[in-house]
Amino acid sequence: MEAMQNILTRNSPRELTEPLPSSKEMQEIYQAALRAPDHAWLRPSRFIEVTGKGLEKLSKIFVEFAKNEFKDVTSDQLEKYKAAPFRAPMIIILVTKVSEHPKVPKIEQMLSTATAAENILLALHAKNYAGMWRTGKFAFNKKLAKYFNLTSDHEVIGYLYVGTPSGSAKKIPKLDLDKFVTHWNE
Ligand SMILES: Cc1cc2nc3c(=O)[nH]c(=O)nc-3n(C[C@H](O)[C@H](O)[C@H](O)COP(=O)(O)O)c2cc1C
Repeated sequence: MEAMQNILTRNSPRELTEPLPSSKEMQEIYQAALRAPDHAWLRPSRFIEVTGKGLEKLSKIFVEFAKNEFKDVTSDQLEKYKAAPFRAPMIIILVTKVSEHPKVPKIEQMLSTATAAENILLALHAKNYAGMWRTGKFAFNKKLAKYFNLTSDHEVIGYLYVGTPSGSAKKIPKLDLDKFVTHWNE
């Protein structure tokens, strides 16, 4: 797909099914992710690719985390968390490995992972797959790292639900640029 057309038509379908990208396609997609802007080339982004039985593992982690860490969690909520990972055949967990650096604060390192995530979404779209970015209660919580078997310098910043879009295509709204863009030219 032509590059600008790819950017202008990217969207986040809620219904995602198989087929998934092949592992060869995913290698190219991760290379695209790692071309994200990255202050001081700290290489902060990590991706955990979850498919098959891995989705059950993620589901168990969500339930365990909710039981241990959320106050007054209800059985309905636990059922929702248990089912959450099965909304797509692949989930890419977006993780930032935060380094101490005199000029690059943690927020910049997390923003680098965010731009890597958008590169993934664009690369998926270019290959006729799609992704939906989700966060919720299982992101931006310092306690998550240990549930994912990660050291405490890792921050889970979100999840890309990945697959082939199904259902009717989303109508993309045309936005009025005057509300978003200001020009300073004198
Ligand atoms: C950091 C971030 C977190 C998000 N978290 C959620 C979420 O938890 N649940 C949700 O329904 N949408 C979430 N979204 C929004 C969707 O990924 C998507 O962008 C939105 O539905 C608009 O659709 P579009 O991308 O097709 O324009 C999040 C987006 C971003 C950038």
